[in-house]
Amino acid sequence: MSRRAQNFVCQNCGAVSGRWQGKCESCGEWNTIVEETAAAPTGPVPGRRARRGRLFALEPLQGEAQAAPRLASGLPELDRVTGGGFVKGSVLLVGGDPGIGKSTLLIQATAAMAKARHRAVYISGEEAVAQVRLRAERLGLLGAPVELAAETSVEDIIATLGEGATPRLIVIDSIQTMWTDTVESAPGTVTQVRSAAQALIRFAKRSGAAMFLVGHVTKDGQIAGPRVVEHMVDAVLSFEGDGLHQFRILRAVKNRFGPTDEIGVFEMTGAGLREVANPSELFLSQRDLGTPGTAVFAGIEGTRPILVELQALVAPTTLGTPRRAVIGWDPGRLSMVLAVLEAHCGVKLGGHDVYLNVAGGLRIAEPAADLAAAAALVSSLANAPLPADAVYFGEISLSGAIRPVAQTAARLKEAQKLGFARAIVPEAVRGETAADAGLSLTATGALSTIVADIAARGTHPRRHELGARQDG
Ligand SMILES: Nc1ncnc2c1ncn2[C@@H]1O[C@H](COP(=O)(O)OP(=O)(O)OP(=O)(O)O)[C@@H](O)[C@H]1O
Ligand SMILES: [Mg+2]
Repeated sequence: MSRRAQNFVCQNCGAVSGRWQGKCESCGEWNTIVEETAAAPTGPVPGRRARRGRLFALEPLQGEAQAAPRLASGLPELDRVTGGGFVKGSVLLVGGDPGIGKSTLLIQATAAMAKARHRAVYISGEEAVAQVRLRAERLGLLGAPVELAAETSVEDIIATLGEGATPRLIVIDSIQTMWTDTVESAPGTVTQVRSAAQALIRFAKRSGAAMFLVGHVTKDGQIAGPRVVEHMVDAVLSFEGDGLHQFRILRAVKNRFGPTDEIGVFEMTGAGLREVANPSELFLSQRDLGTPGTAVFAGIEGTRPILVELQALVAPTTLGTPRRAVIGWDPGRLSMVLAVLEAHCGVKLGGHDVYLNVAGGLRIAEPAADLAAAAALVSSLANAPLPADAVYFGEISLSGAIRPVAQTAARLKEAQKLGFARAIVPEAVRGETAADAGLSLTATGALSTIVADIAARGTHPRRHELGARQDG
């Protein structure tokens, strides 16, 4: 008689080892390895003769392609992120911090589908039906004909959903609470999460229903992160935001049917998530006009221009090593901008603490924000408010030159739409877009010119030093 094989599986990354260890050699996490019974015996099933594989026809690449039939969700911001609506038979994983609003977003999406007379099912493994009802009541969704259940057994769910008309949308909240009879491991372990996800994905592909899986993001080794599921699903969406701001941003991390650089912007209110169709207005709604250290950056997220305020504070340090703190931007890029300011523009920051913040809790990844960040920093140091009606964008190179960036026209158009009159831009912009921009453009090739300009307006006692390079 053969003993059942025991595996030691890392609950963080899914790596399998032959013995228990304190630290996973694959991902480096501690205390994440748990003993699990091997999911299925390998090799042919005892007592059955090995069968020759069935022959199937291979097809050429050219042929009839089925256009991905999409179904709009009723939430335009969600559709923007998924690439235009739900694709039949596709499975989407939604991850996010606890309490960020995943269940809220998905019950709203389910209700919107149900209101459009599509069969929509919401299965909660975490909350009782009464709790989900309570939330729906607060969100004013009780009228929507959503089909609701609190279930965790994958076999029961698949059997129930297989009855009657195929649902157009199924929400499983969350994948960590689901379990299947086919494996022995406890619910929440990597093996269970993987097997449950596999069964649910197979059901979605077979039936043509679009399916949402909610996954918890946690560093805790007790609950399997959705990492193992990421490879199995068609799209991975991440729901982000922080507790201090009302804004929530939905971002596609992976998408087999659409682009991954679009974001959806929502605002969390007492009555649920409100879609923000014009994020620039929101991010600029509480500006302190006329204060030094703020610059408006004309950015691009996917195909959508977004204007956002960068705030800088440069203050004399009281510490041996001055502090550099940045929220919403890459600390490496801040260091680079500071180094260029020191080396090419005569801005001495060695004795100053530097803080940089992107207003509204947005996270910017574009290098195009370099120029706006530099302008905000110099404005704070020189105590010189920047013009309230100006936007900035441009990438700064290590030589101190300002390099052109993509999608200039869209950035300028958005700035004009929101009432800005001036744009400080890279030199290359001048020719192509000046004519139809409707803004007064200041095109500059060197960062030092802009620094000297800002410093000339300031009240910093040593502001002349900032323009020293310019004169010489
Ligand atoms: N009465 C209320 N008024 C305003 N906002 C509320 C109210 N009740 C809940 N919220 C917001 O909804 C959030 C919880 O939303 P939700 O339950 O959808 O999050 P979740 O991501 O599903 O959480 P979990 O990870 O626990 O499942 C809270 O953090 C809070 O911001
Ligand atoms: Mg939830």
